Amino acid sequence: MTRKIFIKTYGCQMNAYDSARMADVMAPHGYAVADSADDADMVVLNTCHIREKAAEKVYSELGRLRVMKRERASEGRQMIIAVAGCVAQAEGEEMQRRSDAVDIVVGPQVYHRLPELVAKLGHGRRVLDTDFPTVDKFDSMPQTTRVDGPTAFLTVQEGCDKFCTFCVVPYTRGSEYSRSVVQIENEARHLVDLGVREISLLGQNVNAFHGVGPDGEVWGLGRLIRYLARIPGLYRLRYTTSHPRDMDDDLIAAHADEEKLMPQLHLPVQSGSDMVLDAMNRGHTGDDYRRLIERIRAARPDIMFSSDFIVGFPGETDADFEATMGLVREIGFAQSFSFKYSSRPGTPAAAARKQIAEDVKAARLQRLQELLNEQEAHYLRASVGLEVDILLEKPGRFEGQMIGRSPYLQPVHVVAPGYAIGDVARVRITTVMSHSLGADLVSSFAPAAVAI
Ligand code: SAH
Ligand code: SF4
Ligand code: F3S
Repeated sequence: MTRKIFIKTYGCQMNAYDSARMADVMAPHGYAVADSADDADMVVLNTCHIREKAAEKVYSELGRLRVMKRERASEGRQMIIAVAGCVAQAEGEEMQRRSDAVDIVVGPQVYHRLPELVAKLGHGRRVLDTDFPTVDKFDSMPQTTRVDGPTAFLTVQEGCDKFCTFCVVPYTRGSEYSRSVVQIENEARHLVDLGVREISLLGQNVNAFHGVGPDGEVWGLGRLIRYLARIPGLYRLRYTTSHPRDMDDDLIAAHADEEKLMPQLHLPVQSGSDMVLDAMNRGHTGDDYRRLIERIRAARPDIMFSSDFIVGFPGETDADFEATMGLVREIGFAQSFSFKYSSRPGTPAAAARKQIAEDVKAARLQRLQELLNEQEAHYLRASVGLEVDILLEKPGRFEGQMIGRSPYLQPVHVVAPGYAIGDVARVRITTVMSHSLGADLVSSFAPAAVAI
């Protein structure tokens, strides 16, 4: 009998990857993916604990599901509710105590056990598994059977040993772990066979990657990228999220000499103040970051940078905040994420005196976001007139129109008769929209010319 599973994803791209893998794990047990909870036999909330707001969303969603589950029960039908992801890892036990609706709590390192956990349910029994087993979960998961267009995520590294003082990730995801190169290569080849043309390598600190290579040696991310770039049919590689401290020479060199590695880098800096960076335990100064950006730009002059920022970290003064604004102005980011500091239980910064008032955080965030938005708009405007290759990802809103991505990750709209999703088109950027670009085909370029 076919059952339906609905998986709702919160948080980062690694959660998105994990959700797809949970679907793969459940498929052989008769579960097909549903688009909503409405007629699903099982609902999985794949949760995020990074900021308070993210975690709260889960509790309100659980409230709604609880009502649905009751209604189902009154009709004699079952609805299994599972909570996965980082909230499950951090407070799964308490969650089960607080809500009788939660049947399964499953931590991020044991998704391969989901079918077993489902099998254990029954007669009012509920289960929790938040182990960090030594067995490689990736070994125990089946190959994916579905891809969503020509781009895909591939997790190569998990966990974090950096312990930034504001962050829950080292607690929810455990210590750093890298998959083996062979395992990654197999998955990448399989994705390409399914039609994927661009792979984003993922990790909480993806450039801390140190996986065992086919030669038995430990490989860094630069070497992995060069190796994967040899896969026929794979046009593009990206990676995220990187830590400034882990940008080694070989990875920077790969930006200079590996054509398939896209000129785009998300490199979170969090703050421009040395005092705050130190209190955050980031392990570098503002100037270290500036120098690093220079070195990467020297390797790949057209590289696009994006970043993450936290405002209102405990003890952040007006001068500290201005230092962040100064750094942003100097470097110029094409697109960034910025957040008010959110105090997370169990992290050192949560216990710091000198927490910053909400209204101060809000005012700083607004100023920072205005500046970042200006920079984003400037970056988009500066693209007009450029000729770029775009990878066509999906149909556009109008007949014949398609949406692709430039090497710099910008969405580009183009009318491209004769082209198919997954093709690369050479275009000239003509117009700017709020977060995307419009372009015309460069006519001398035929899709077949890019087949690799
Ligand atoms: N490993 C990445 C970040 C992963 S978390 C890195 O080191 O850069 C993604 C982003 O969430 C962080 O870059 C940070 O800007 C933000 N973040 C993490 N914890 C936060 C907190 N407690 N409050 C506000 N923002 C936070
Ligand atoms: Fe969190 Fe810092 Fe690790 Fe990034 S490097 S996941 S911010 S502890
Ligand atoms: Fe959130 Fe966990 Fe990712 S806390 S950002 S889902 S690693």
